[in-house]
Amino acid sequence: MSATLIKDVKETFIKKFKTDPLLIFSPGRINIIGEHTDYNDGYVFPAAVNKGIAAAIHKSNTGKCTAIALDLDSTIEFELDKLKPSKEGNWENYVLGVVAEIQNRNKVIGDFNAVFKGNIPGGAGMSSSAALENSVVFGLNELFDLGLTKHEMILISQKAEHNYVGVNCGIMDQYASMFGIKDNALHLDCRTVESKPYKIDFKDHQLMLINTNVKHSLSDSAYNDRRSACESISKLLGIKALRDATEADLETIIDKVTPANYQKGLYVIQENSRTLKAAKAIEDGDLTTLGSLIYQSHEGLSNQFKVSCDELDFLVEQAKKNKNVLGARMMGGGFGGCTINLISKTEAKAFSETVAKAYKNKFNTDCSVYFIELSEGTHIVNNQL
Ligand code: GLA
Repeated sequence: MSATLIKDVKETFIKKFKTDPLLIFSPGRINIIGEHTDYNDGYVFPAAVNKGIAAAIHKSNTGKCTAIALDLDSTIEFELDKLKPSKEGNWENYVLGVVAEIQNRNKVIGDFNAVFKGNIPGGAGMSSSAALENSVVFGLNELFDLGLTKHEMILISQKAEHNYVGVNCGIMDQYASMFGIKDNALHLDCRTVESKPYKIDFKDHQLMLINTNVKHSLSDSAYNDRRSACESISKLLGIKALRDATEADLETIIDKVTPANYQKGLYVIQENSRTLKAAKAIEDGDLTTLGSLIYQSHEGLSNQFKVSCDELDFLVEQAKKNKNVLGARMMGGGFGGCTINLISKTEAKAFSETVAKAYKNKFNTDCSVYFIELSEGTHIVNNQL
């Protein structure tokens, strides 16, 4: 599937810029468990997938840069010494932001041209944005010999999101997209930014994503609000991040926070411990426990952290009614996007059809089902296509 994307960006690049580009594939990610824990210095459990962004990129000698988003049929031109964020919500902010952050680190790049195409629908909660950012920083690092490590590259991608896109995201998405390992999920400690790969044996089960195909407005500002709430609780507790707190610690400031924020803090502390329990369950090959932790994660995201929506809750309710689904929950920032389901291989198709019908009946719109493979992180693609 990514081969078609690569072919498309390569052909367009050669047609437009008359030279052979460097080709890069940068994946999106799933997250098994550990949601909204990354910016609390906590644990997450993501994996890169076989869907993402293909980029063709090369130096330009025209005195300007050109970037083309093939899926959006959109072209932008810019000059390296006159960078500024574009309108909120525009795709080019991911590209311009990365370029600006590279320059902020006093790294010198020259003009370049780039063509992008992806196969993750925007708003799916699968981090097409991190995939795009990583493709740009990875490509420029290679083209201009910047000598950046992968850790430096993901920090640049993350800062681009903070400063040009306006989302104060954690490090999970950029990390998973850059460091993904085929057939593995990554148990990532977001404080040390180091992970342990887990080659998970799902036995007769598999992961299946169901996209609500909705992204509710204000999701970005709601995300930033959640982060601020967590930071204010940490401050009250006199700790660096909620990762350092226990439920008992939180009790001590119960009178100083609103009930809503108390629940948010509690969710983060509990989700962090669920993520550690999930790692243990995976080590023990105990998929039933893993599934139950995944369901608990959704409960918390919906009722305590309040980042779900009717469509996501409905999909999880449908999953709960089916004994072949061991666990299901919303995935990513929330307010739309996908649920991740741990489901029996033989029943996945039947369940997806039943859910699709029920979803259409309820919301008068279609959901989409994706079967994914755990894949390699951002990498150069052999140019012999
Ligand atoms: C978005 C952010 C991540 C993370 C998740 C929620 O995907 O980009 O950093 O916070 O939401 O877990």
